[in-house]
Amino acid sequence: MDIKARIDHAIAEAIAAGQAGPTPAKLASALHYAVHPGGARIRPSILMSVALACGDRSPRLTDAAAAALELIHCASLVHDDLPCFDDAATRRGKPSVHRAYGEPLAVLTGDSLIIMAFETLARAAGEDPAQAARLISILARRTGMPRGICAGQGWESEDDVDLSAYHQAKTGALFMAATQMGAVAAGEDAEPWEELGARIGEAFQVADDLRDALYDGETLGKPVGQDDLHGRPNAVTELGVEGAIDRMRDILAGAIASIPKCAGEARLAALVTAQAEVLTPIKWRAARVPGE
Ligand code: IPE
Ligand code: IPE
Ligand code: MG
Repeated sequence: MDIKARIDHAIAEAIAAGQAGPTPAKLASALHYAVHPGGARIRPSILMSVALACGDRSPRLTDAAAAALELIHCASLVHDDLPCFDDAATRRGKPSVHRAYGEPLAVLTGDSLIIMAFETLARAAGEDPAQAARLISILARRTGMPRGICAGQGWESEDDVDLSAYHQAKTGALFMAATQMGAVAAGEDAEPWEELGARIGEAFQVADDLRDALYDGETLGKPVGQDDLHGRPNAVTELGVEGAIDRMRDILAGAIASIPKCAGEARLAALVTAQAEVLTPIKWRAARVPGE
C-alpha cells in the first residue's frame, strides 16, 4: 500500500470507530465531512516518510500516529473557521463545517476529532505501550498549551505578538509532531528530529503566505487575503514574492541539512526537495525565468 492509501485507510478506521453504535447522526456525518476529502495530507505524509526512513518497525503504530496527527489538523481547521475565529465560509472547496452543520455541531466536531486522535493512539498501545505513551505525549505537547496549536491561536488575542513563537506554535508545532512521531513510531528518539520538523514548518508558513497573497479563493478552496484582512504579518508583504520564494527554498535547504543519519536519509532528502516544488505556487513556478 502506498503512503496515501495507508493514511486514508488509517483515518477511515479512526472515524468509523467514532461512528459505531447509536450515534447522533448529524455529528457522525459532520466528522466524516470534516476529514473527507482531505487536503494535501502533508503532515501524515511527512510522518510516514520519516517512519519509513527509520525502518517502520511498528507499522500499526505508524498508521495510528499518522491518522491521529491528521485528525488534530482537521479539528484545528474546523475550529479556526468558526465565526469566533476566522469566520471562513469555505474550506477545501466546500462550505466550512459550521456553514454546513451549524456552529454547535462544528464545535463538537472539532472536540470529537481531537479526542478521537488520542483515542486512536491509545487503541494502538497494545502494539508497544511505551512507544504509544511517547506518541500521545508528543501530540499533546504540539496541540495544547504552552507551545501547541492552542497557544498559536491564543497569540491572536494578544496585543503584542511574539511572531516567532506565534508561527512555531500555530503552524510549526504539527510539523515537529510529524517528524518526531514518525521517528518514535519506528522506535527512534524524538529529539534529533525536531529541527527537521521546525524547518519544514517554517517553509510551509512562507508557502502559505504566498498562497494567501497570490491565489484566488476558487483555486485554494478557502478564503484568500486573510493575512491582510486580519492584520497578520506575511512573508510576501515583508520580502516580496521573489524574496519569499527564495526564503522558502533556503529554509528547505537547511531542513535537508538537518536530517538525522538514518537508513532512508537520501530518500527523505529527495522528498523534502520535491516538497519545495509542491509548495511553490504553481502560477509562479511557471512564470519564473531561471536566473532572472
Ligand atoms: C492549512 O493547512 C492551515 C495552515 C496551517 C496554514 P494545509 O494547507 O495543510 O491544509 P489542507 O489539509 O491541505 O487542507
Ligand atoms: C489555520 O490557520 C489553522 C491553524 C493553523 C490552527 P490559518 O487561518 O492561518 O489558515 P487558513 O487560511 O485558515 O487555512
Ligand atoms: Mg483561517
